[in-house]
Amino acid sequence: INIDFSRVWEWMPTFLDGTIVTIVLSLTTVFIGSLIGLLVVLMKMSDFRILNWMANIYTNIVRGTPVLLQLFLWLYGFPMLGISFTGLKFLGGTYGSREFITAVIALAINSGAYVSEILRGGLEAVDKGQIEAGRALGLSQSETMFSVIIPQAIRTVLPGLGNEFITMIKESSIVSTVGVFDVMYTSNIVKASTYSIFEPLIVVGIIYYALTYSLSYLMKQLEKRLNRYA
Ligand code: ARG
Repeated sequence: INIDFSRVWEWMPTFLDGTIVTIVLSLTTVFIGSLIGLLVVLMKMSDFRILNWMANIYTNIVRGTPVLLQLFLWLYGFPMLGISFTGLKFLGGTYGSREFITAVIALAINSGAYVSEILRGGLEAVDKGQIEAGRALGLSQSETMFSVIIPQAIRTVLPGLGNEFITMIKESSIVSTVGVFDVMYTSNIVKASTYSIFEPLIVVGIIYYALTYSLSYLMKQLEKRLNRYA
């Protein structure tokens, strides 16, 4: 065995490019996933049975099947039915490959199901009396939701969303299997060019660990700060 990190050192710019893609991918995913999750949790809490039912089917299917399968379905399965996505076109350019855009959609739809459960936990943790208080002040049901319940739920929900971000940083590594140039994928590129696989995998592992570690550190600081005013 000859382990030699100097060979992979000159590939740092490639690793960093992939790292940026991983960060952008997981950030976008969690952002869109949170919007989906908010919509879904409101559907679950609504008085319309049909909305409860649709929201439950969505979360059950998404959480009951592998995210890798969902990615392959969006990328290779649904296009057979005419459902497909392309790179985003604006300002006279095309942004993101078909694979990248489809990966964002697949991962966001996956994340939304998990986020909806995080949000539901947070909303249910707010004292029921708060709803009555809001209604008694003459606020409508949705006004109570948006100006009384949600602001209080944010504190309990934040750690969960932070964890979801950490999960997506790691889970998004599956996009490397469909050719998206994320940090995981860079280990393939460097392997092909240097004929070593151990070193690039270790570098990629260190990058993932640095990302998740610093993120959970930031979340802890933020939680401390929020709890100061609890
Ligand atoms: N690895 C699990 C799966 O394949 C987790 C999915 C993503 N989890 C999440 N919190 N978004 O189904």
